[in-house]
Amino acid sequence: MKVLVVGSGGREHALCRALARDPRVDALVCAPGNAGTTELAEPRSLDVADPDALAALAEQVGADLTVIGPEVPLVAGAADEVRARGLTVFGPSAAAARLEGSKAFAKQVMRAAGVPTAAARDHTEVEPALADLDAFGPPYVVKYDGLAAGKGVTVTEDRDAAVAAVRASLRGPDDRVVLEEYLDGPEVSLFAIVTESGAILPLLPAQDHKRVGDRDTGPNTGGMGAYTPLPWASHGLSTEIVQTVIRPTVDEMARRGTPFSGLLYAGLALTTRGLRVVEFNVRFGDPETQAVLALLATPLTDVLTGRATPRFRSGAAITVVVAAKGYPQSPQLGDPIRGLAAAGALTGVDVLHAGTRRDEHGQVVSAGGRVLSVTAIGSNLESARGSAYEAVSRISLAGAHYRTDIGDPSRMRHSTDGGRRPGGASDG
Ligand code: AMP
Ligand code: GLY
Repeated sequence: MKVLVVGSGGREHALCRALARDPRVDALVCAPGNAGTTELAEPRSLDVADPDALAALAEQVGADLTVIGPEVPLVAGAADEVRARGLTVFGPSAAAARLEGSKAFAKQVMRAAGVPTAAARDHTEVEPALADLDAFGPPYVVKYDGLAAGKGVTVTEDRDAAVAAVRASLRGPDDRVVLEEYLDGPEVSLFAIVTESGAILPLLPAQDHKRVGDRDTGPNTGGMGAYTPLPWASHGLSTEIVQTVIRPTVDEMARRGTPFSGLLYAGLALTTRGLRVVEFNVRFGDPETQAVLALLATPLTDVLTGRATPRFRSGAAITVVVAAKGYPQSPQLGDPIRGLAAAGALTGVDVLHAGTRRDEHGQVVSAGGRVLSVTAIGSNLESARGSAYEAVSRISLAGAHYRTDIGDPSRMRHSTDGGRRPGGASDG
């Protein structure tokens, strides 16, 4: 079959990698892709925010399956457009994608479904929002209601910063802000494939690292690294998340006449009072996907279409994001990246591209804030971690930075004590 992958990040390179080793897949197209996907998939240009152009491309290339990576096209209705042309697509309708597109909507659904989440209130006016901010107290959690491309969430002890975030969220007449209770405890990402018939197939739980700096310091980012599985988590964690979060949410969406299919990503905090949903996303997470798919043993199209239950190889996988100088505030682009082949030659290592392109001389250069997702598998987390960091050390990119504590066992114990510290803004 021919598969079209939409997007251009490390997640999409990981999807292309998994699809390239799927015996059912004989042709791959990635739009717009990056310098890494171009090695595996025919590149096509695309404005991913344009649902009509996306569906037209699926038709034009004759895609038997279209896999949409980012949230923007899903929230804009791209999956509906592809389906309207009689084609198969992996991704929810716009109505179901509201679980990510509106945090206030996600809270309503969770409330109706009895899903445990942070207490929250939403407002369209500054004064009542500030009253609720003080009612919740510090650490303050302020979220812009819609997709915010990098500026959605502020978690801070500083009341002035929280007030500024409330005001910044309520600039236009249609703006809405969500204030919520602070959740402590380690974060977990669980991805569940939800088929059109409502079957739920969980993948391995993973942990992302949102803050830019070691020991969770500095501003939030799109994600600086991830590992899977979670050696500190209970065996029943996935089952518990499916029973208390995914199943009730899927049932509630069906009851509303807007059934969810595609990938439901639950971002959770494991608090001392039990697990709580921090957010829903309606697509594969980046960078967790890079680690999770590295261990997937079942052909990916069988998993996406619900034909097979996902099985995973034993061992562990880790991904370390190499970010451009200045990321997340103002990434510097256009710098040559060297050492990719030497890094990729290490056993178990796969250097996935994110913000990369080839310049007019054929040199791979940086083209985005998160430049590479250096991914490694190993018989255990320690060996995967050693390989990933050895690979990172072979790569050179002027001013690049990365976290040195992804999958660090001492950090993990810290994080189960509730080690996340409030600080800057996040792009969730
Ligand atoms: P979100 O976009 O909702 O996932 O938020 C981005 C990040 O902000 C999360 O991954 C958490 O690290 C942090 N965050 C969001 N909501 C809360 C909360 N209620 N309590 C503590 N941290 C939060
Ligand atoms: N890993 C965070 C995200 O994909 O939103």
